Amino acid sequence: MAKVLLAVTGGIAAYKAIDLGGSLRKRGEEVRVIMTKAATRFATPLTFSAVSAATVYTDAFETENGIILHTTLSKWADILVVAPLTANTAAKLSDGIADNLLTMTALAFEGPKLAVPSMNVRMYENPVTVNNLLKLQRNGWNILEPSYGHLADGEYGKGRYPENDNILFEIDRITGPNDFKDVNVLVTAGPTQEPIDPVRYLTNRSSGKMGYEMAKAAKVRNANVYLISGPVDLKTPYGVERKDVKSSEEMKEAVLEKMEWADVVIMAAAVADYKPVFISEQKIKKNSDELNLHMAKTSDILMEISKVRRPRQFVIGFAAETQNALENAKHKLKSKGLDMIISNDVMRTDIGFDSEYNEVTVLCKNGDAVRLSRNKKCSIAKNILDIVKTHRVKLP
Ligand code: CTP
Repeated sequence: MAKVLLAVTGGIAAYKAIDLGGSLRKRGEEVRVIMTKAATRFATPLTFSAVSAATVYTDAFETENGIILHTTLSKWADILVVAPLTANTAAKLSDGIADNLLTMTALAFEGPKLAVPSMNVRMYENPVTVNNLLKLQRNGWNILEPSYGHLADGEYGKGRYPENDNILFEIDRITGPNDFKDVNVLVTAGPTQEPIDPVRYLTNRSSGKMGYEMAKAAKVRNANVYLISGPVDLKTPYGVERKDVKSSEEMKEAVLEKMEWADVVIMAAAVADYKPVFISEQKIKKNSDELNLHMAKTSDILMEISKVRRPRQFVIGFAAETQNALENAKHKLKSKGLDMIISNDVMRTDIGFDSEYNEVTVLCKNGDAVRLSRNKKCSIAKNILDIVKTHRVKLP
């Protein structure tokens, strides 16, 4: 867990950084907060300290154990996050002005830095600010761009404080291992829908959560991630390119189209095995007591992949099982020509479908088997990538 120094400047979005401190605390991160004088006009140090369980510093001339603060704090932190960053503080930081605790600490800090500019659109787009932010970037700062939307005083434009989830993502990315940098990762997730008539379809209970966590985990490690998603109710992970599909046929086409690009393929989608042979053009009427659907097998996407894949590509399947999980998964690993398969028991209600948790066994082509005990899907995804890293043939 990182030691995060959260520095808050005096913008209208200062109150939103309270939640950021709270989320960091919930994740088990150690947080300390610096507030400029102006920031204390928008949110109180007491609120920050209560929500983040953090000491809040505002005065450059205070000491801690006899040592002046900016040197202590700049040595303590793993990452400095300035959120929100006003145009005024951006100008000071880009010129190396050190006239308060925040700017003094930033100047003394040698670790990774993240700035979250947030201000009125005209201030943000002013060439002076644009240049200051570019200068910060050139000096090694990571800048998370503000989003578009409604601003204070009823204005609209770019300058809004972004979602705290995106800031957390950036903190993880910056402090993370960076070991999937430039690796192209293709992920499929969610269920497919096989149409019966214009108003009905066949689907399954996949929520897509595991696939989305895989996509996010790869992106956090700086991979290029392309996510092919069946219909789900999930937000696209920050920085991930997403293509939506519905049927297994659409998913197959999307995967094959992107196959040449991929270094790693993660087939987490629950693809339908059968689809109706005839799709009725009109809504089927309830004219009889029984209805028989004539179904035909869909293409197995992993089988299609195995025909075109290159040796450099690492292909991973997921095996959703209700019985003999390991045996069935081992069989799929072989028959589908995979490098790795993740076996999970979808009968259990405390893991799997729609749950935030999973428990899986990772089976590798070389016979290695690793059990990942019940944990949040985000942790399971991270652990799976650790295993992929050790098994993937390195590209030249
Ligand atoms: N899969 C696929 N194309 C299909 C069906 C499944 O590519 N038409 C992939 C899934 O994305 C998963 C793996 O195959 O990565 C295993 O899926 P699973 O549903 O567990 O197994 P099936 O091959 O469908 O076999 P069965 O349903 O008989 O267990």
